[in-house]
Amino acid sequence: MVKVKTTFFCQSCGSQYAKWQGQCNACKEWNTIVEEVIQTPEKSDWKSPTSSVKKAAVPLRVKDIDVSKEPRLDTTDGEFNRVLGGGLVPGSLTLLGGEPGIGKSTLLLQISLKLPYKTLYVSGEESQKQIKMRAERINPNNNNCYILTETKTQNIFKQIEALEPDVVIVDSIQTLHSDYIESSSGSISQIKECTTELIKFAKETATPVILIGHITKDGNIAGPKILEHMVDTVLQFEGDRNHIFRILRANKNRFGSTNELGIYEMQGSGLREVTNPSEILISKKDEELSGNAVAATLEGMRPLMIEVQALVSTAVYGTPQRSATGFNAKRLNMLLAVLEKRAGFRLGAKDVFLNITGGITVDDPAIDLAVVASILSSNEDVALEKDFCFAAEVGLSGEIRPVQRVEQRILEAEKLGFSTIFVSKYNKISLKNTAIKIQMISKIEDLVGFIV
Ligand code: TYD
Ligand code: MG
Repeated sequence: MVKVKTTFFCQSCGSQYAKWQGQCNACKEWNTIVEEVIQTPEKSDWKSPTSSVKKAAVPLRVKDIDVSKEPRLDTTDGEFNRVLGGGLVPGSLTLLGGEPGIGKSTLLLQISLKLPYKTLYVSGEESQKQIKMRAERINPNNNNCYILTETKTQNIFKQIEALEPDVVIVDSIQTLHSDYIESSSGSISQIKECTTELIKFAKETATPVILIGHITKDGNIAGPKILEHMVDTVLQFEGDRNHIFRILRANKNRFGSTNELGIYEMQGSGLREVTNPSEILISKKDEELSGNAVAATLEGMRPLMIEVQALVSTAVYGTPQRSATGFNAKRLNMLLAVLEKRAGFRLGAKDVFLNITGGITVDDPAIDLAVVASILSSNEDVALEKDFCFAAEVGLSGEIRPVQRVEQRILEAEKLGFSTIFVSKYNKISLKNTAIKIQMISKIEDLVGFIV
């Protein structure tokens, strides 16, 4: 008889305690410590006991390790491939997190349906019928995709052994449970155990596994932080549910850069890859409206033109309101202070609202100049020339600072038909004969001259 062993885990950070206490010493959260029954997991192995004997690993010289046999699996989804760093790595574990309803299941089902490999989509959240209904909306003709509704890992592995899929997708890790652990699905010890089993399976069979993970109300992936350490890649699917754009980014990637970004548009028939985001994100209106400015930003390796809108109005209450959507509010306050001090604008008694259109959040400093231009434009109520765009950072003393890879931004702006781009005088630019005018400025005052 296995003696029943219990331990106490913090449900917020995963710390382990020998006895109950009210507050977690590690993350200082209250009432998060819960008793969980753990049986000694003697055989936490994904294979059934009868399958072949595992061979022990031997150390190899780095140069002797053979990687040539393992090309990446092309997912046939350009955006997903790029964020992964060029496709799925055999034997890797990828975790996809995101808010409920943002489209995680849709994205992965769509990828399963497009994959030219035998794919097993395991769902613990929806029935086969529900998934079929969703699949009909996306791509009903696929012979390679199998759907399994099961939550017990031992049963899942039994099916995997029979089917031998090339890719396994699990929706979601919080619904899985393993027989070796007695606590309920979604608890720290279950998540840890199920992930360990899946990692073992992935590494031993070189099958890529993609997991969906729920997130908590403060935006972290639910379950222990250790989950993110265990997997190879952590992807985040985000966006505003009321907007049609969804952004996929890598928070951690053992096989590629974390700067890459994938953009999708949610449609009636699933998610569409947005291969040329700039054209969608800027409105190119015929009317000239004050308070609009276009920034040439960079997300990962990709230039992206986005529109910034500002509204400056007289404050109704004593304390003026400052609000920013898609832009750091602290940075907005800083830019307003710079404008006040260096350009003599009395913005102290004005409400300032700033919005990045398309529901996107950017943290590229090169957007600063467009923010300043849109605020000035709204304040003066004069529209900017509609084919102006901006790419520079603004410093505390009102200086226009250079940004990285400015030439790429200029070329993108040129491609989209902008007539003038404002950049810092200190950027070294070796482009010759561009159709776009490159306006070099060094101080905020220089910009004011162009606007008012
Ligand atoms: P879902 O993928 O279930 O989100 P998650 O798994 O992250 O909780 O749901 C995404 C939302 O997208 C859902 O509210 C319905 C909508 N949707 C579309 O707009 N078009 C589609 O083709 C599909 C399948 C879903
Ligand atoms: Mg889902």
